[in-house]
Amino acid sequence: MRGYFGIGVEGISKPYNVGNLFRSAHAFNSNFVFTVAANYERKIGGRVDTSDTLGQLPFYEFPTLEALILPKRCALVGIELDDDAVELPSFRHPLQAAYVLGSERGGLSPEMTARCDHLIRIPTRFSLNVGIAGVVVMYDRLVSRGRFPARPVVPGGPTEALPEHVHGGPVLRQEEMQRFRTDPPLAEVVEAEKGGPED
Ligand SMILES: C[S@@+](CC[C@H](N)C(=O)[O-])C[C@H]1O[C@@H](n2cnc3c(N)ncnc32)[C@H](O)[C@@H]1O
Repeated sequence: MRGYFGIGVEGISKPYNVGNLFRSAHAFNSNFVFTVAANYERKIGGRVDTSDTLGQLPFYEFPTLEALILPKRCALVGIELDDDAVELPSFRHPLQAAYVLGSERGGLSPEMTARCDHLIRIPTRFSLNVGIAGVVVMYDRLVSRGRFPARPVVPGGPTEALPEHVHGGPVLRQEEMQRFRTDPPLAEVVEAEKGGPED
């Protein structure tokens, strides 16, 4: 699947919930996990995270929202049961994304919400457990961005095989790469042509 994603939590207090979320993130092939202003006790969270996510994936612990740094062009996607949020089934996931969930008691802070590039909600009657909400979003990303045979009209598995991937033509990026090229070391070239440095 093209692109990448990371997932994290803001201000979570229950390490089991974070451990659970991180374990699922690992299973869904997340590229990194993070916490913001959160009190994650790795020892306790590790008891539910039997896949040892933090031993396998980059883990960033940002002490404050101001300290949060994301890779360039990575969109921050807030996950919150908020009236202004886009409903998940109608949301197109960014190619590069970092998803952030809120705390059990307070949800996402207004500051974090303001910082997000997108805000999405899972259309449920009431709020889900934070780890479960994360799983629903990661599954939706997988289903909508991954390549799977189409669902048939009648109940049951796919009836048509996945069409073969068609590769595009070569993309020439000579001009773009030019700025990474350096001039040849002329003095050394001249010396080499003369037969190398004299002893
Ligand atoms: C237990 S909820 C917080 C509940 C909040 N205190 C409330 O009662 O409204 C913890 C987090 O799970 C996520 N969450 C739970 N249900 C959600 C939903 N239906 N849509 C989007 N996010 C959800 C959000 O990130 C939320 O901040």
